[in-house]
Amino acid sequence: MNPLQLVELHDEYRKRCLNLQASENYLSFRVRKALSSDMASRYSMVFDGEVHGVKVHNVYGGARYEEEIVNSAESLAKDVFKFKYVNVKPISGHVAAMASLLASVPKHGKIMAIHPQDGGYDGYFSPYLPDMFGLKYVPLKLLNLRKVDTENIRKEKPDVIILGASYILFPYNLREVIEVAEDINAKVIYDASHVMGLLPSGFQEDIEKCHLVYGSTHKSFPGPQGGIIFTNYEEISEKVEKNLTWRVQDNYHTHRIASLAMALYEFRPVASIFGKKVAENTYILARELNDGGLKIRYPPEFSRSHQLLVDENSLKENFGVTPPEMSTILENNGIIVDCVGRIGTAEVTWKGYTPKDMKDIAHAIIAALKGEDVKKEVEDIVNRWDGKTLGEKAEN
Ligand SMILES: Cc1ncc(COP(=O)(O)O)c(C=O)c1O
Repeated sequence: MNPLQLVELHDEYRKRCLNLQASENYLSFRVRKALSSDMASRYSMVFDGEVHGVKVHNVYGGARYEEEIVNSAESLAKDVFKFKYVNVKPISGHVAAMASLLASVPKHGKIMAIHPQDGGYDGYFSPYLPDMFGLKYVPLKLLNLRKVDTENIRKEKPDVIILGASYILFPYNLREVIEVAEDINAKVIYDASHVMGLLPSGFQEDIEKCHLVYGSTHKSFPGPQGGIIFTNYEEISEKVEKNLTWRVQDNYHTHRIASLAMALYEFRPVASIFGKKVAENTYILARELNDGGLKIRYPPEFSRSHQLLVDENSLKENFGVTPPEMSTILENNGIIVDCVGRIGTAEVTWKGYTPKDMKDIAHAIIAALKGEDVKKEVEDIVNRWDGKTLGEKAEN
């Protein structure tokens, strides 16, 4: 079997599955087409400097449309996310984090970020980014899932406070954090990797006041794998750019940027409602699972994001399994989730599934956990989809 046949097998397999992975979304045909275009093997680097005594605009030839696509992605991103400055070059959310930290934390500085035990991103924790960049890491304490302990920030006096998490269910008390940050002259960063697709419909109030907002373009946002950075500060935007090229990365993969531009283009007509539809689907799915015996954490609201968290104790008590075992049972029935107990609704919502469908999905999950074979039930749910994303439907 040649590698492309394996790719085709993968594509066929995933087409038959219902994807509830919180870190993933679905790419429309046009977004994929851009990703596999000729640009996938091309370079472009706007330089505007001298080479052999001659003024050079782009280091590489043949890049006229690549330059245009970067401009197009930038203006679409500014329009959708309402920030003055954007950088679409980071090749992942993690790379966006690296460039943003380098642009905002002084050498040997101190950062505060949510601890992985509280759902924070492992990258901000020792031995990862803080050790790589020689920074001091202090956990950003949460009083509850929505409330950061601002008194502790005042006491620790960090250079940078990073909000955002891998297990993110609710918005934070960002305004209070920003007020304290102003008092102690700290910068506030929001890692929106998980909730990027929910920001344009208002998931997090006061987001525009952060010094930097960045994240992945492929979790709740339905774009290709990659990163993006926003700011309303010109000086910070310049520092980000300086810290990207030849520091954390070299070329920026224009096929990915072309694909992101197309995803932004398709997302724009539904940008103000997508997050609300996602949150509604998450709530209904959580409620139905909870009522069906699979307890979901943080009732009665459960979540306002694209993910819900399964209560591991109840999973063990009521169904006798752990989250990785649940993942295997569901996958055997055509439902894909990760192995840490998160269930996500971004992809099904982007495909246009509604609260009514969530009830059927919850029914299938509970039945599978009880040991029933629900392959046919899942196949019916998968086949309900008409092949068009919400963005494509809004365009017609
Ligand atoms: C909160 C958070 N930040 C950053 C990242 C890294 O994103 P990427 O996979 O795009 O590098 C992740 C990945 O899961 C994440 O959850």
